[in-house]
Amino acid sequence: MRLLAIETSCDETSVAVVEDGRKVLSNVIASQIAKHAQTGGVVPEVAAREHIAAMMPVLKQALDEAGVTWAEIDAIAVTKEPGLVGSLVVGRMTAAALAFAMNKALLEVNHVHGHMYANWLGDGPEPEFPVLILTVSGGHNELVLMRGHGDFEILAETVDDSAGEAFDKVARLLGLGYPGGPAIEERAKSGNPKAVDFPVALRKEKNFSFSGLKTSVFYYLKENAARLSEETFVNDVAASFQEAAVTALVEKLLQAVRELGVKEVHLSGGVSANRFLRGRIEEELSRVVNAPLFRFPQKMEYCTDNAAMIGAAGYFESL
Ligand code: KG4
Ligand code: ZN
Repeated sequence: MRLLAIETSCDETSVAVVEDGRKVLSNVIASQIAKHAQTGGVVPEVAAREHIAAMMPVLKQALDEAGVTWAEIDAIAVTKEPGLVGSLVVGRMTAAALAFAMNKALLEVNHVHGHMYANWLGDGPEPEFPVLILTVSGGHNELVLMRGHGDFEILAETVDDSAGEAFDKVARLLGLGYPGGPAIEERAKSGNPKAVDFPVALRKEKNFSFSGLKTSVFYYLKENAARLSEETFVNDVAASFQEAAVTALVEKLLQAVRELGVKEVHLSGGVSANRFLRGRIEEELSRVVNAPLFRFPQKMEYCTDNAAMIGAAGYFESL
């Protein structure tokens, strides 16, 4: 089954053509990053307008790159929610109009399910259930037990911010711009993760919390405002923040691995692009007897928002 998939939940206009939920024939992503970098974050009204401008060229490019005609598309998948309402509407209306005009079925997909299906995209053996998924982006932060297609049990979620949002806010406080995740990761490479002892919240509790970490970075920087112009200071704060955020994520993941006995562990969502986080999970899993197989998205573009993952979720959830 060949799906045309559309994703417009935040600031990426993306259209993909995906075969049987795994084979990506095209995955075109028009990023609005340059636009939102000017304001230091996404302005919803601006994002919606940008989606309208980008949609038709992106759609055409996705069909061209896949080398398929409308007759070879079986159904249309689109992100239903969650996301910015004005942005979601552009994708949903486009998908609804295309489904009507081309006489195709319309599959509505949850954006977070899309992120979790990013690890089905690409080559190699198909994932085996049960799968434990740590899925973290700017908008969500969850630990999920997946027993089968469309069968998700949320084991833990954030009580306030997501780790991705904390990366973005801390980067802004450090003057590193938008989006924050890649900038923090880069600066942290040259910093000392033990320079500042930032708190790891809710260590013994079920859920995640990242607003306290964000606040403690805020007060630390307020007290040391004069040092913000020092490169090593910024690098050290970035590394220490990343250390605390990654520890908070990995501790809960590993506890669930020990308790549940799953076949695979998957990392997904925008924050799964972080190589330090991937490395820490690999390291911790290497100490577990009979450790489950660890996967993260096969391509960087499947970590952050993209339509291919929506095509995967749409396919597997309609089986
Ligand atoms: O999945 P995504 O594109 O959008 C949402 O659904 O929110 O995720 C974007 C988030 C942003 O918070 C961004 O800072 C974070 O993913 N991110 C990273 C990295 N790359 C993107 N966080 C940490 N390290 C990265 N390398
Ligand atoms: Zn996302």
